[in-house]
Amino acid sequence: MPLTQTSADVAVRQAAAPILSARDLTVDFKLEHGVMRAVDGVSFDVRRGEVLGIVGESGSGKSQILMAAMGLTAINGRCAGSVTFEGQEILNASPEKLDKIRGSSMSMIFQDPMTSLNPYMRVVDQLTEVLVAHQGKSKAEAVDIAVEMLERVRIPDARRRISLYPHEFSGGMRQRVMIAMALLCKPALLFADEPTTALDVTVQAQILDLLNGLVRELNAAVVIVTHDLGVIARMCDRVIVLYGGRIMEEAAIDDLFENPRHPYSQGLMAATPRLDDNTAHDLRTIPGSPRALAGKMSGCPFAPRCDRRIERCTVETPALQRGAGGRAAACHLVTP
Ligand SMILES: Nc1ncnc2c1ncn2[C@@H]1O[C@H](COP(=O)(O)OP(=O)(O)O)[C@@H](O)[C@H]1O
Ligand code: SF4
Ligand SMILES: [Mg+2]
Repeated sequence: MPLTQTSADVAVRQAAAPILSARDLTVDFKLEHGVMRAVDGVSFDVRRGEVLGIVGESGSGKSQILMAAMGLTAINGRCAGSVTFEGQEILNASPEKLDKIRGSSMSMIFQDPMTSLNPYMRVVDQLTEVLVAHQGKSKAEAVDIAVEMLERVRIPDARRRISLYPHEFSGGMRQRVMIAMALLCKPALLFADEPTTALDVTVQAQILDLLNGLVRELNAAVVIVTHDLGVIARMCDRVIVLYGGRIMEEAAIDDLFENPRHPYSQGLMAATPRLDDNTAHDLRTIPGSPRALAGKMSGCPFAPRCDRRIERCTVETPALQRGAGGRAAACHLVTP
């Protein structure tokens, strides 16, 4: 569960300028027979000290939102709209500009630690590289900082183990190494893409709690994407529900779990735990999540699966409407 925060904390945070803002973010992929829209007009803000969750089933576009923000979209992809970091445009920015931000203020944790860890390099060299390159530390200073960070992610016997290669760690320990690496430069903004999906449930819970504690201590802004509402319940302050590349609903975590308004969110919650239930739950997986070709979609993306569908739903795409208390929903039948 997120650490308890008073309403005053929340009010102060919401008054601060967002560190990351996405506006009308669209990601298209060129395919052999057309263009597929993976992310469709997504907008959100994240502030320091806030953990934003993006939840949606596989293929809903979660990873592509993070990839676009990190400048890692595949070669056949095109990003449009805007993503700003501390007020600077970073969408489609030059590799030099992105490298600078990625090394010092923005980092990412992937589902598979081997995406970030080099299998042929000892952990000590991978962890210290960034401190030496970006912060001008001596190697000895960097090793001390890295050992301390490994201790903070609770790797036993860190001073000895730091000299091992990644494959000499278990899956859970490797994920801890990656978290240590991502937090080493004290990033202002952290992206986490299904950070614990590959791990068993007990290890997942430990790692999420650890991550939650560390990012709160750093006062970082976090965007975490997952298909798992248990992860959202454990980590997040606010959540966006994504379907077919579009935002269906946005709400504070308690509001979403207690009173989901969008039919898709309601369906998810019906199959989901309460906040005090710590077991991990997956979204109900229903095959055939629709992926429209760009410009071809009409109507609500959820219409084929919605039991409240009316005629208007198949012809008119509902706009995301924002209401009080940070709530928003995209449905013809819902006023947020
Ligand atoms: N390089 C690519 N070329 C074509 N389609 C892609 C590419 N990368 C991702 N996609 C598609 O974009 C959609 C969204 O993918 P993704 O963001 O990875 O989903 P999620 O993370 O929610 O599971 C999926 O339909 C996926 O197949
Ligand atoms: S707009 Fe229509 S189809 Fe879409 S979620 Fe609302 S009721 Fe269902
Ligand atoms: Mg993904």
